[in-house]
Amino acid sequence: MSTTDNAIETEGLEKIYRARFRGKEVKAVCNLTLRVPVGVKFGLLGPNGAGKTTFVKMLLSAVHASSGSAWIFGKDIRLDESRRPVGYLPENHRFPTYLTGAGMLNFYGALSGLPAGERRKRIPGLLKLVGLSDWGRVRIKKYSKGMLQRLGLAQALVHHPKLLILDEPTDGVDPAGRREIHDILNRLIGKGVTVFINSHLLSEVESFCEYVAIMRQGKLVLEGKISQLLAGSGFTVNASRLPVSSLNEIRAAGAIILSTANGVAIQSPSSEHANLVMDRIRAAGGSIESFAPSGASLEDLFLKATAERGD
Ligand SMILES: Nc1ncnc2c1ncn2[C@@H]1O[C@H](COP(=O)(O)OP(=O)(O)OP(=O)(O)O)[C@@H](O)[C@H]1O
Ligand SMILES: [Mg+2]
Repeated sequence: MSTTDNAIETEGLEKIYRARFRGKEVKAVCNLTLRVPVGVKFGLLGPNGAGKTTFVKMLLSAVHASSGSAWIFGKDIRLDESRRPVGYLPENHRFPTYLTGAGMLNFYGALSGLPAGERRKRIPGLLKLVGLSDWGRVRIKKYSKGMLQRLGLAQALVHHPKLLILDEPTDGVDPAGRREIHDILNRLIGKGVTVFINSHLLSEVESFCEYVAIMRQGKLVLEGKISQLLAGSGFTVNASRLPVSSLNEIRAAGAIILSTANGVAIQSPSSEHANLVMDRIRAAGGSIESFAPSGASLEDLFLKATAERGD
């Protein structure tokens, strides 16, 4: 069943590539069921060859699903109109390098059916949004990788989409350029656009996205709200000036205590537990230096999720 509360919804989506001559099969995406709520930043993460690109190509009908179903804003992807609200930045895109930036946006605007007058009106604003106002008349062959990705993003936005599907949007872009792209995307999120990115960069998804799905060898291995996934790994209270007797008491209450340069790091399994620990620290005259979700990163979760499945 599909609902319009989800920008993307899939049910048992699968893709098997069959080599034409040798009859070898590659199961690129296996039984993938996923929901992407409207208005969120969603990251599909996975190593090279995990099936991320195949997944989005199926959503866009660039590749036909072997089985399963999918909907975009509640519309079956078998209907052409399901793609109307979608802006797409393919991975490894090759825009015609003889075009200028403005010429390229004009070309893709025409492909998406925008009348010439409307294209003329929108292009300066799009170039401005992606920080390329001074480059509109310059040929694409002179653009850096970061500029090409930003122009690609402007191309994906030309028809004012409600859902952006970006395949490795910051691949090959330096950290400052990556930050610029994320800033632009955050502005779009503020306008209600849903952003779905494919990435093989754990750090990018961890810092930019609210939701994550992790794929490995065609299968979904972990999915959820990142804050909840990371919160599940407990909290750390850094404290100083604590007497040994109260440390023993805190340890007996189920916390793990590690020595640090300035005092101790107390690891609690839940926020309630961490609050009790902080009450005890104060009662014992100690000082709380910091309190934060434990240092588990998406990488830890990724490694754990894939190890648990034994693949
Ligand atoms: N047209 C195709 N024909 C046959 N096999 C394919 C085809 N396209 C992709 N594959 C295979 O499907 C699997 C998934 O590839 P896909 O490109 O979807 O992964 P990905 O997660 O996007 O990887 P990357 O991070 O490298 O972009 C790989 O094993 C790949 O070799
Ligand atoms: Mg890919």
